Amino acid sequence: MANGDLKVSLLESGVEQYSFFISDEPQTRRFGARLAELLRPGDVVGLCGDLGAGKTYLAGAIAHGLGVPDEVAVTSPTFTLIKEYIGVVPIYHMDLYRLGDPSELYDLGLWEYYDGAGVCLVEWCDRFEDLWPGSALVLTLTLGRDTERTIRAEGKGRGADLVQALAKKWHSPLEK
Ligand SMILES: Nc1ncnc2c1ncn2[C@@H]1O[C@H](COP(=O)(O)OP(=O)(O)OP(=O)(O)O)[C@@H](O)[C@H]1O
Ligand SMILES: [Mg+2]
Repeated sequence: MANGDLKVSLLESGVEQYSFFISDEPQTRRFGARLAELLRPGDVVGLCGDLGAGKTYLAGAIAHGLGVPDEVAVTSPTFTLIKEYIGVVPIYHMDLYRLGDPSELYDLGLWEYYDGAGVCLVEWCDRFEDLWPGSALVLTLTLGRDTERTIRAEGKGRGADLVQALAKKWHSPLEK
């Protein structure tokens, strides 16, 4: 019954995963806007993947989808570690790339942001996997040819619900 066992353990793990194929920047913006429609205060979204894959670009698309005015540029928080934007909810855009030690996460008060009344967008969330909230949505971007990207969405709990809702929205004819 090896196959049966495997099925059960996959179900128990509760991880939902879906890959989105993106052809160009406007499609990344559409993806960010669709996700923004689903997000609510307290949600944490990780942005991982290759250098220059588009993590900051996608964070901008999500932030603009959450009501940050188009004229407000969303730029990399690599040096400031965290930037705050005001949309329909507060948006905390963070970048863990330069953090060397988990203790710096405590100094930053990261958990207060995660538990707060805003949406957290966290670049390089895979740097400190053990300290990552279990119910977060993780988006991993992979470079393709030219402007093509793959976005793998993965999550448990609230993150799994978001993966499912996003996949449904993405393929809905009304959303094109
Ligand atoms: N489909 C696409 N989606 C997102 N960005 C794209 C796409 N096609 C081209 N780009 C370009 O790729 C670049 C991505 O840069 P960005 O700073 O967002 O990457 P990053 O993953 O945040 O990099 P870093 O690893 O330095 O944090 C931008 O110049 C953007 O215009
Ligand atoms: Mg970046």
